[in-house]
Amino acid sequence: MAIKPSDVLRKKRFGGELNEAEIRAFVKGATDGSWADYQLSALLMAIAIHGMTDRETLSLTLAMAKSGDALDLSDIPGVKADKHSTGGVGDTTSLILVPLAAACGLRVAKMSGRGLGFTGGTLDKLESIPGMRIDIGVEEFKGIVRKVGCAIVGQTASLAPADKVLYALRDVTETVDCMPLVVSSILSKKLAAGADVVVLDVKTGSGAIMDAFGKSQKLARDMVRIGNLSGRRFSALITDMDQPLGMHIGNALEVEEAIDVLAGRTAGQLKEVALELGAHMLRNAGIAQDVGSAKEMLSERIASGEGLEKFAEMIEAQGGDPRVCFDTALLPKAKRRIDVPAARDGYVAATRTSDIGNAAKLLGAGRERKEDALDLSVGIVMKKRIGDPVRRGEPVMALHAGERSDVVGAMTLVNRAISISEQPVKAPALIHAVVE
Ligand code: URA
Ligand code: CA
Repeated sequence: MAIKPSDVLRKKRFGGELNEAEIRAFVKGATDGSWADYQLSALLMAIAIHGMTDRETLSLTLAMAKSGDALDLSDIPGVKADKHSTGGVGDTTSLILVPLAAACGLRVAKMSGRGLGFTGGTLDKLESIPGMRIDIGVEEFKGIVRKVGCAIVGQTASLAPADKVLYALRDVTETVDCMPLVVSSILSKKLAAGADVVVLDVKTGSGAIMDAFGKSQKLARDMVRIGNLSGRRFSALITDMDQPLGMHIGNALEVEEAIDVLAGRTAGQLKEVALELGAHMLRNAGIAQDVGSAKEMLSERIASGEGLEKFAEMIEAQGGDPRVCFDTALLPKAKRRIDVPAARDGYVAATRTSDIGNAAKLLGAGRERKEDALDLSVGIVMKKRIGDPVRRGEPVMALHAGERSDVVGAMTLVNRAISISEQPVKAPALIHAVVE
């Protein structure tokens, strides 16, 4: 007898454990539209309230991964790697580590997403490069990975389609930050995308989906454990999102910072996390013996310019203008720059990251509604990090604004986000833990 939505809903409503057949019925209902949005949403809410056992989370992940076509990368020679972040602000590590790892001989086949809530999305950032295409079919995608060594494209419509449906519903039903739903959303896509080696960047802090460290740790452990069950090699780093990772927030601004890192002009925490993630990828793929020597390999590709050359090659293969790599003035630039002064003397004590991400959104870097067009040139440039001394009136950041920017709204948010202490403040740790 077919399993009815009402049976599954009733069981979860009272906190029962769903069996595999019931979970498969739910995922099928999301994929083929046989369950109504209100039935799917009701079950999502019941899951958010009652949670899921490990067995349920595993069943849900596997059913979602199988809801569409899995990508077969086996005809590309060598080890194929992928990477995923749980989402952050100023978090541009992919644009740095993907070409660097490819320059070390790894094949990186990455499918990325758009911005989500206050977090930025790699696809939106890439579209600030003139001509760049991210809507690329499977065969062309594989061809670019084979020839160049890396490609970053949008998820094809047939990759884990259940996640597309459930994600859109979670976004508007306050069920985003639910552990089994995050685990199954991210992992189903990574399993279907076919890489042998996957490195996950799980963020923790005021700009992360899971702000408390304990929750980030559980998320990382669950994803690595379930990922490894599939026979691939998964690792996770838990990294800091108590302040924006890079100094630039906003689409073209983040591409510019990634190019500056690849060109060896900029160091700092964005570079550190990118190298750490890339190093785990190379080590897990067997290209380097250990993380230390892998980091050296990656640093050498910055010094030699090979990483930047690889990024230019990838951009050209995807239809974009590779000259941006050697002249960032070719990226879209905002019309106005407005400094945000420190309110008093002291030390930067906290930067509420979600507020800063939302301020960038008000300037036009993110979407309020699905159909909104972005202003790829706008965003925020941070001038100070937690622990830095500041003088009253000295700029702590600059808003880069365009014609449609809500500068007043953004200013209100960033002023709320920054707090300044009279006492010296210690900078937060950057890499909190490694889970393998
Ligand atoms: N990124 C995803 O793809 N899914 C989530 O649920 C959260 C972050
Ligand atoms: Ca993201």
